[in-house]
Amino acid sequence: MSFKITNNVTWVGKIDWELRNFHGDEYSTHRGSSYNSYLIKGKKNVLIDTVWEPFAKEFIENLKKEINLEDIDYIIANHGEVDHSGALPLLLKEIPNVPVYCTANGAKILKAHYHEDWNFVEVKTGDSLDIGDEKLTFVEARMLHWPDSMMTYMSGDNILFSNDAFGQHYASDLMYNDLVDQSELYQEAIKYYANILTPFSPILTKKIEEILSFNLTVNMIAPSHGIIWRDNPSQIIEKYMDWAKGYSENEIVIVYDTMWNATRKMAEAIADGIKSVDKDVTVKLFNAAHSDKNDIITEMFKSKAILVGSSTVNKSIMSATGGILDMIKGLGLKNKKAAAFGSYGWSGESVSLLNERLKGAKLELVNDGIKELWNPDVEGLKRCKEFGVDFSKKL
Ligand code: FEO
Repeated sequence: MSFKITNNVTWVGKIDWELRNFHGDEYSTHRGSSYNSYLIKGKKNVLIDTVWEPFAKEFIENLKKEINLEDIDYIIANHGEVDHSGALPLLLKEIPNVPVYCTANGAKILKAHYHEDWNFVEVKTGDSLDIGDEKLTFVEARMLHWPDSMMTYMSGDNILFSNDAFGQHYASDLMYNDLVDQSELYQEAIKYYANILTPFSPILTKKIEEILSFNLTVNMIAPSHGIIWRDNPSQIIEKYMDWAKGYSENEIVIVYDTMWNATRKMAEAIADGIKSVDKDVTVKLFNAAHSDKNDIITEMFKSKAILVGSSTVNKSIMSATGGILDMIKGLGLKNKKAAAFGSYGWSGESVSLLNERLKGAKLELVNDGIKELWNPDVEGLKRCKEFGVDFSKKL
């Protein structure tokens, strides 16, 4: 499959409808993904990025239908991660001397992955490449999300090839933002941001401000995953600016794990308490062991407050809850209030351990948490409900 996006530019990537996990099992891709590669044909012919290695052969066969490989003048490697560079070894076996434009870190990373000394041309922000009627200008995007990440702007067609930034793991043959279901699109875009880009939010704000300062006309943002933003492409830039600045909605997330349902009953009673004093707030409950971890993170990212619960087991907390806490520590969620809860039978460490982990993740604890012995009775559930009321009032 290929798809002409302007007179000069053709999408030559791969839609991966089957993909359900990305980055090993760190990221769930319920709606598949795509590896977007773009071929610019003109006085000079340029290939921007490739696809993941399992699709390399298919990619090159398709590319040959678009162009004689010998006619490719330049390859741009915006990013060395294997989902975009995976077809380079096979491609460069056929055209070994073609220059590969990338950042200095990109050259290092590509060498370290493939152990090949290709014809690298290292570029920095502001460097450009004349390709005839158009010009490509490079913008380093260090740590968005790897040290080598870069964007390429094409004048004439005014396309920003943004690589991972502004992307979504979203397989769709509709290709453009205005043609797909908007709620699906934004669900995937915010999930991508929450789970991949959150740690880099401060860098991202500065980078977007820098790009905006160039006063470029941008008719399209063509990322390396998902759909192309052609209808009001600045909408996703504005969303990124929002998401990067301690974003929250009127939502509270309760994440817990439970051995015999006591901690689940506590979670539900706390939710009742919150709703009894705030009808407008959205409260979402997730059993961490039964729910998709990336969907939980997305909801945590959207929330203004987070409650985490776990039974005490072996003087510790349950493993699924621990996994989520590890994730939020690494991501560095901002601007979230928090509290802990859990049931116990004898030693009862879970709440104090949850408190430590929440503080370690830089969430703002609003109280010391609540624990209930064994299976909470009517009085115990009343205490949990009151805890929810009090928590809500402290937000
Ligand atoms: Fe889509 Fe960072 O690779």
